[in-house]
Parts: sequence; C-alpha cells; structure tokens
Amino acid sequence: MFFETKNLDDTKVFDIISNDFRYAKALNSFGIDFYDHYDLTINEVCKEKGLSSNSIYGYRVAMDESFDLDLKTLESSPLNLVIEYLKHNHSYFIKNKLPYIKNLIASLSNKNKRYNFFEDLKFIFPLFYQDFVEHILEEEKHIFSYIQKLHQLEDNSKSHAKMFFEMKKISLKHIAKEHLEEDSEMAGIRGLTNDYSIKNIDDLHLKVIFQELKAFDKELDVHSNIENKILFPRALKLEKDVSDKIRNISFLN
Ligand SMILES: [Fe+2]
Ligand SMILES: [Fe+2]
Repeated sequence: MFFETKNLDDTKVFDIISNDFRYAKALNSFGIDFYDHYDLTINEVCKEKGLSSNSIYGYRVAMDESFDLDLKTLESSPLNLVIEYLKHNHSYFIKNKLPYIKNLIASLSNKNKRYNFFEDLKFIFPLFYQDFVEHILEEEKHIFSYIQKLHQLEDNSKSHAKMFFEMKKISLKHIAKEHLEEDSEMAGIRGLTNDYSIKNIDDLHLKVIFQELKAFDKELDVHSNIENKILFPRALKLEKDVSDKIRNISFLN
C-alpha cells in the first residue's frame, strides 16, 4: 500500500517500513539506513540529508515498474536476446539486490541473538553469495558463450570444423540436466528461516530481511525457470542442428 506524498512526509520511518518493506530499499538508495532512523519522520530524515521526500516516493513507485519479460515473450524471442536478458538478471542480482541484502544481514544488531537462526544466517549468507556468484560466472563464461557460438555459427566449413572440437569439450545435455535437478541455492536459507515466516518475529530489521529474501527467492525461481524451460531446450536443439550440419558437410566432402 502506498502512502500519498503529503502523508508520507509526517510518517515515521518505522511505520512506513512496517507497512511496506520496500521503502527500506528506497531509503537505502539515498544513503539512509532505515534501522538508524526509526523515530524520525520522512520529512526529518530528508531534511538531514538535503533531500526531497518526492525522490523517495518516486523511487518506491519506480520499483514497481517492472521491465521483466514474461515466459511467453521470451519463448518467441531469438536465443541471443534470451541470453542478454538472463545476463541482465545476473547483473541486477550481483550489483544491486544481493549487496543490499548482504549489508542488511551484516548490520543486524546482536539483540536478535535470541532467535536461534541468528548466528547461522550471519554465517551462511556470505557463503550462499559466493556460491551464487560462482554459478553465474560459470554460466556466463562457459555455457552462455558456448550457446552464443552455436547461435552465431557462420555458414562456412572452417567455423564448423572449429565448432566440432568445441562441441567435444562440453556436454550441454549433462549441464542442462544438472541445472534442472539442482536445488535452488536458496534452499538452505529457506529452511533456516522457516520459509521466511515473519509470524514470530517482532524486530522490524529482521522482518525486512525475511521479506527481501523471500522476494529474491521468487525472482531466482523465475530466472532458473527461463534457463530450464527456454534456454537449455532451445540450445540443445540448436546443438543437434549444428551437429547434423557438420555431419552432412563431412559426408559431402
Ligand atoms: Fe543464471
Ligand atoms: Fe542458473
């Protein structure tokens, strides 16, 4: 639910974020840590920072303007566009979303030690982050670039011969199967946080973290679905076509 700008000004940071956790991110993007300003109104925080509350409200509204492409659009898009879209997702996760969540968790105060997942969450998130970055690097460096090469293959026998050896080095079928079967990297965190349930949590900072993690888990699910249902099946079909073509060329020669 949105607050009207005029109402926003006199509302306390604590109340705004209790009502809509995404305001925490809007404030963060202007260098304001919400958990240090619970009792100030938006007007007071903005004065302190020399900002207009309209900027914060505008940022919050913009967060809902999604540029996401749905599965149907991607299904009928060229393969290189699907790859560019996935890369764009990767960069958003790594440069925007995850550093924000990581900082939220790192700055969680020790008074939350009473929750039994506290230490585990602080310990496990940086490890998850590292694994996730590795997953993305592997995809971009080896898998996407291989698929792009298949896609761009020029119609000359020299390129086909080169591709023939590249194809021997990678098993796309195996990679696709593994990607489909592997658990989401978020599975551990989902279990630890009891499916991000905020039912028994009263600390607002922790509530924001759980809601951000839940939203990220959902985004990651959509992302993996695009890879499993669109990218890999189409890349496998392309690989087969290229392989048939190479066989035909060698047969004709
Ligand atoms: Fe990915
Ligand atoms: Fe992936």
